[in-house]
Amino acid sequence: MMREDLDRILITKERIAERVKSLAAEIKKDFGDEDLIMVCILRGSCYFFADLTKELDNFVTLEFMSVTSYGSGTTSSGEVRIINDISCPIEGKNVIVVEDIIDTGFTLSYLKRILTERRPKALKICALLDKPSRRETSIDGDYVGFVIPNEFVVGYGLDYAQKYRNIPEIGILKKDVYSK
Ligand code: IMP
Ligand code: MG
Repeated sequence: MMREDLDRILITKERIAERVKSLAAEIKKDFGDEDLIMVCILRGSCYFFADLTKELDNFVTLEFMSVTSYGSGTTSSGEVRIINDISCPIEGKNVIVVEDIIDTGFTLSYLKRILTERRPKALKICALLDKPSRRETSIDGDYVGFVIPNEFVVGYGLDYAQKYRNIPEIGILKKDVYSK
């Protein structure tokens, strides 16, 4: 069973749902009734993106982007590449990038740089989780769900080697699962 690989649950379903609601309220406070383009960074933010966008009553365009990440390891290579780009121009638009976690920050620094070149009206970063102790770039999230310690977490979209994404909570993966 998948759950046997967890050391413990770090964030319960209830806490996630509550925080997603309050993040939507923060976004609403900044953007009011303006239209938004929300960009899901696949695949880790899939559930977060689905839940967050449903908490907003603005006209929201859902866009999807995939970038290279860790492969099957637990540490970043620092090299980021776009695999699939969004399908619409963002010039003059309000754009919110929705990511699962900010770790070293390489992924979001890269995304922010290339999306800024397209001249959006506003560009904000919304991340469910943040591991500031691991940061190697100067990027920060504009909306951050939970600041977590330096542990490798899975569930609610986050994976290890493409597994565990469908656990509804966020849990700490047992170290022997990835140090084998
Ligand atoms: P960064 O470029 O180092 O900030 O890494 C961002 C990406 O690494 C995230 O989108 C995740 O896919 C992955 N990642 C970083 N930390 C974790 C973790 O604790 N669990 C699962 N994936 C993680
Ligand atoms: Mg990943």
